[in-house]
Amino acid sequence: MLTGERVRLRALEPDDSEAMWRWYHDPQVGRWMGGDPPISLAQNIEKGQSRPRNTFEQMALGIETLDGQKLIGYVALGETDFVHGEATLQSIAIGERDHWGGGYGRDAVRVICRYAFEEMGLHRVMLWVVADNVAAVQAYRKVGFVEEGRRREAFRTGGKRYDYLMMGLLSSELR
Ligand SMILES: CC(C)(COP(=O)(O)OP(=O)(O)OC[C@H]1O[C@@H](n2cnc3c(N)ncnc32)[C@H](O)[C@@H]1OP(=O)(O)O)[C@@H](O)C(=O)NCCC(=O)NCCS
Repeated sequence: MLTGERVRLRALEPDDSEAMWRWYHDPQVGRWMGGDPPISLAQNIEKGQSRPRNTFEQMALGIETLDGQKLIGYVALGETDFVHGEATLQSIAIGERDHWGGGYGRDAVRVICRYAFEEMGLHRVMLWVVADNVAAVQAYRKVGFVEEGRRREAFRTGGKRYDYLMMGLLSSELR
């Protein structure tokens, strides 16, 4: 169920902490994700060991290539509201930059959204993305997300302000 054309999504393991720590400190990966202060590898390993178990309300999954079974990123879905049938795609990163532009991000978004609709019975998935994050916006559009709103100048990085787009996807729109 959590397998797509290029990636498989799986639970994160404590051994993944080192790769995730590398991605966390890569300024290009984090450029549009909000700058958190540096943390030590030991702190990240500790976090990886005490990660809460995934639930339908909140899950974080590793993104693995189908061919080489290499961990290249992660995706998180949460804030699930079963009354209204909506969840938020909170985060996605292809941390291994040599895999950017290969359709892995798009496939991971497609797989997690399909899971939200078909297994969790949801009607909508929404997300926030910085409008200038061209690769992310393009990847979301390819899966079927459409722009639903804009929070003007709500994201600041490098001394400049950028708009946030709210994007949404209905279960019938998944491509
Ligand atoms: C956003 C991200 C997950 C996308 O994953 P990816 O595997 O690189 O994306 P895909 O290959 O599936 O799709 C990217 C699309 O954007 C296009 N693209 C990439 N960079 C671009 C750029 N600078 N200008 C225009 N288009 C661009 C690609 O050509 C591709 O479009 P196509 O399918 O029409 O060719 C990945 O780039 C990433 O991890 N970025 C850093 C973290 C981040 O910003 N996450 C999103 C937070 S909301």
